[in-house]
Amino acid sequence: MSQMQPVRGTHDLFGSDILRYRHILNAAASLSRSYGFEEIKTPIFEFTNVFSRTLGDASDIVSKEMYTFSDKGGEILSLRPEGTASIVRSFISEGLAQHLPLKFFYEGPMFRYERPQKGRYRQFYQIGVELLGVDSTDADIEVISMAEHLFRKLGVSRKVTLEINSIGDHESRNNYKQALVEYYKKHLENLSDDSKVRLMTNPLRILDSKDKRDIAINHDAPKLADYLNEASKQKFEQIKKTLADLGILFKVNPFLVRGLDYYCHLVFEYRTTALGSQDAVLSGGRYDGLTEIMGGPKAPAVGWAAGVERLSLLLDADPKKLRPISLIPLGEAAEMACRNLAHDLRGKGFFIDMSYSGNMSNRMKKATKQNAIAALIIGESELQNKLYTLKLMDTGVQMTIKETELSERLTTIYGDSSTKS
Ligand code: HAM
Repeated sequence: MSQMQPVRGTHDLFGSDILRYRHILNAAASLSRSYGFEEIKTPIFEFTNVFSRTLGDASDIVSKEMYTFSDKGGEILSLRPEGTASIVRSFISEGLAQHLPLKFFYEGPMFRYERPQKGRYRQFYQIGVELLGVDSTDADIEVISMAEHLFRKLGVSRKVTLEINSIGDHESRNNYKQALVEYYKKHLENLSDDSKVRLMTNPLRILDSKDKRDIAINHDAPKLADYLNEASKQKFEQIKKTLADLGILFKVNPFLVRGLDYYCHLVFEYRTTALGSQDAVLSGGRYDGLTEIMGGPKAPAVGWAAGVERLSLLLDADPKKLRPISLIPLGEAAEMACRNLAHDLRGKGFFIDMSYSGNMSNRMKKATKQNAIAALIIGESELQNKLYTLKLMDTGVQMTIKETELSERLTTIYGDSSTKS
């Protein structure tokens, strides 16, 4: 394989892809501010046990998908496959317990050695939120409410469905696991090979298997809801009631268990049918015991993460590109004047496109290609009279503007949003 190819499952973001990526990030970052989530950036690699101790040795991520290596000092490190474990590590190592509750927003690349396909990559980008230190279901609702608003803001609400489930507390889950193992043992012969292994390592995962044989067996498997203790049931009822009160549509999916060990109580996923088999767009849940498992103080927590590429595939159209003003000098003296003018207008925040060479007709063609909102034409007479000719590209209307009034006129005629970055 040529060294000049991108590594399988990785991709360059440019053109339309980067526009969409930036649009999603901006929407998420501004929403997170209105919800009071503060941005955090953790390193993209950590000691491997930050992930292996938290996500679970039997999880697909830890058992098959981590990019793990030893560095020159002999430390065993992994590229982060997700953000939650890193944030909890940071909560502990930075000694943030006295600041609870804490609300973090994050974005950045994650790495998983998965089989690449549409919507599934080996380096992909996540945005996510984590709310630490609140036991009440208000926190679960807050993070879901933010996810709802994000989908609305991106105009893709109609393409996703919220599915929720409760996997209860430790006690409920252990009782349930026992019942499941007994049930699956009776159907051992018909289980898929993967699920035969899962039966030994993590029987809950058989529930969200996509193998037809497993799906048939799952149909009559014991239901988690029947094994929840009173406290777990009450929490889940409260969440369902509040979501309904807020008008947030959801579906209870008793087979939703999520693939990571750290979850308890609420788990949820926004799924879509628009991306083929990669149906999860945004996923999360509660992880109350995680800070303690990692050796830190108690901090019940809940959060979610969404795949930016998957959100991007859901967007209807490319976000609007800013439209430049093209500067078109005629003659050498005007070229010089335009260089100064471009510097000055860019300093004021205007989006200026300046061709480096070409005659008037070529430069006008370029202005059209760039979808310029206007062309500012400067020739000898304009220079002498301190006037500019401004041509509106959409209508072809041409007008003369005094030098002293230029930036004011550009702002009022074109409006801040289309010409200023
Ligand atoms: P996750 O379900 O593993 O959860 O990933 C979250 C989201 O990342 C998925 O819903 C999907 O959109 C996206 N994603 C996952 N793998 C890939 C991939 N290979 N290519 C493209 N997109 C992908 C977590 O990561 C948890 N940390 C979520 C969480 C936060 N739970 C509590 N807080």
